Amino acid sequence: MSHQLVIVLDFGGQYNQLIARRVRECGVYCEVKSYKTPIEELKKMSPVGIIFTGGPNSVYKDDSPAYPKEIFELGIPILGICYGCQLMAHLLGGKVTSAVTSEYGKTETYYDKSCEIFGGAKNLPQKAISWMSHTDYIEKIPDGFKVTAHTDCCPTAAMACPERKLYAVQFHPEVNHTEYGSEMIDSFLKNVCGCTGDWTMGKYAETAIKNIREKVGDGKVLLALSGGVDSSVAAALLAKAVGDKLTCIFVDHGFMRKNEGDEVEQAFEGWGLNFVRVNAKEQFMSRMRGVSDPETKRKIIGEEFIRVFEQEAKKIGKVDFLVQGTIYPDIIESGTGDAAVIKSHHNVGGLPDHVDFKEIIEPLRMLFKDEVRALGRELGLSEVLVDRQPFPGPGLAIRIIGEITDEKLEILQDADYIFREEIAKAGLDKNIHQYFAVLTNMRSVGVMGDGRTYDYTLALRGVVTTDFMTADFAKIPYEVLEICASRIVNEVKSINRVVYDITTKPPATIEWE
Ligand code: XMP
Repeated sequence: MSHQLVIVLDFGGQYNQLIARRVRECGVYCEVKSYKTPIEELKKMSPVGIIFTGGPNSVYKDDSPAYPKEIFELGIPILGICYGCQLMAHLLGGKVTSAVTSEYGKTETYYDKSCEIFGGAKNLPQKAISWMSHTDYIEKIPDGFKVTAHTDCCPTAAMACPERKLYAVQFHPEVNHTEYGSEMIDSFLKNVCGCTGDWTMGKYAETAIKNIREKVGDGKVLLALSGGVDSSVAAALLAKAVGDKLTCIFVDHGFMRKNEGDEVEQAFEGWGLNFVRVNAKEQFMSRMRGVSDPETKRKIIGEEFIRVFEQEAKKIGKVDFLVQGTIYPDIIESGTGDAAVIKSHHNVGGLPDHVDFKEIIEPLRMLFKDEVRALGRELGLSEVLVDRQPFPGPGLAIRIIGEITDEKLEILQDADYIFREEIAKAGLDKNIHQYFAVLTNMRSVGVMGDGRTYDYTLALRGVVTTDFMTADFAKIPYEVLEICASRIVNEVKSINRVVYDITTKPPATIEWE
């Protein structure tokens, strides 16, 4: 790779992904590697800087993660964070021990601005808040180092040995709670490592395309396209790289939102790839008749998806590579070496294990969701695809409570379309992380014109969340809800009542089934 590389050496901390992200925000390419990565391998990668992450252990315990001391002799600038800071002190002859008072949370910190990192951190005052999380502390710094920051409880909140380009901070500059933390990281990268900060998504795309081309050669590539952001961006990248050697199989199970199947297809028109849309609605629907149990629905859809995918894959013949849209947050055990294997057979809607392919390509595995979106834009994908909110694999099948019929599907598609349209019109689409309609299985009495109606109740759901593990209901203004309710009962047949779901997750879930 031609761009400057920074390695984040992972000692098992909680914020390792965040460090990687901050580095990329500074315009510097970075990769996270396990502390188990042999030093020879690291050397071969020629990094311009290394960042040691935090971690849950105590450096003085025998079985704690460590690294060969030789790493400090390579002349490569190193920044140690938290555990990484203590490890640096420990390995270089300092003393780390359990602190009388552990520090946790926002802590007033005093900085020595003559240190390159702090001096170069834009606008950093001599005293600012840092975010601490440690029970051990550095009692004695190694020879040749000097203390560059302290707090009221912690004598060594930061230390440095500029001659050897070694720097370390006890606090976490990568979290937002540390004031000017990003600026400190930027200063380390630019002032110490000499990074130019010219890495962009465009460059990421260029490099990825080149690498994919080299790897694929004349081989055949298969991709299961769901129409979701990740698989769409992966498809766009592969299309640029290998053109018609790629076949995308888009299984339209018939439970997509209104116009969605066509939108996905249109988005890939003119990309010069073999795009196979399998309209399998009848196949799926025939298996859903009489089924109302949520788990059974999910299971049937999962199985049928695999069946359709296999049928289509067989037509293509021997495939050399399978592409997966795995992204960074999907990789649970980052850098353990097992991660790729764990992901091989999941994440693409339960792809079959035995599709005959040689290797898996995961071109997005280093990126966060918003970076994936940025890459999608860079590659020219339509906003409709790039900005999509999460959509469950089983689609509207789990948003129709009870048995699914063609009629109910159409009702839900129309109502959901109006809801999405009004949310966008009100300018709320960027702030509500997921919003959709659910067709309940309940009918109630209403009056329309001069007549009695006995129709379905539609539920609207909108949530705000950071990780989709917990969620709050979105505080959509009443006026917007009022327009939605009025339009839906007027424009969609068979709905005479609209309710808004105001439960949080937990105890509810985001989806209703
Ligand atoms: P719940 O309903 O469990 O959903 O709060 C959390 C998030 O996951 C999405 N979801 C799915 N995504 N396949 C997916 O790809 C699925 O089967 C599935 N079920 C739920 C849901 O939309 C929400 O974003």
